[in-house]
Amino acid sequence: MLPLMRLLLIIKNKMARDYSETISRIAALVEGESDNIAKMATIACELYHAFDEFHWVGFYRNTGDDTLKIGPYQGGHGCLVIPFAKGVCGACARNREVQIVVDVNAVTDHIACSATTQSEIVLPIFQSNALIGVLDIDSDNLAEFNQEDAETLSAMLKNSF
Ligand code: SME
Repeated sequence: MLPLMRLLLIIKNKMARDYSETISRIAALVEGESDNIAKMATIACELYHAFDEFHWVGFYRNTGDDTLKIGPYQGGHGCLVIPFAKGVCGACARNREVQIVVDVNAVTDHIACSATTQSEIVLPIFQSNALIGVLDIDSDNLAEFNQEDAETLSAMLKNSF
């Protein structure tokens, strides 16, 4: 990557995304709701429509046998099944840790559901200490996600499930 391009990416990565309104709306909408699918559908919708730079927002659910299956999402169609052994979502489920991919073209284990995706973030979701699924957000921009996204979205998921 050219030095100027790298510098621009670093600067962009330092700028915080303003989640405040969206996170407040999500908290109000999911309050008192116990159905996970209803909450996933609401969160996917709110995040997708709040940020133009998110071109795919969705959930993969842990269905046991080290397998993730597609849950509620917004955007083009996503792969239906992802084994824990594969892709960025699989790595998140396997390691139970947030995955930030700055450039998906540089990751051999990335599963390309859309040819336009350039970067992504995948976060684990826990309920009573068990992994119930992951939240995957994809962007057509390189280096769209950083540690602040990870922290804000992790807190939102903790409050929601
Ligand atoms: N990119 C993900 C697959 C899910 S889709 O992008 C919607 C991965 O590598 O696990």
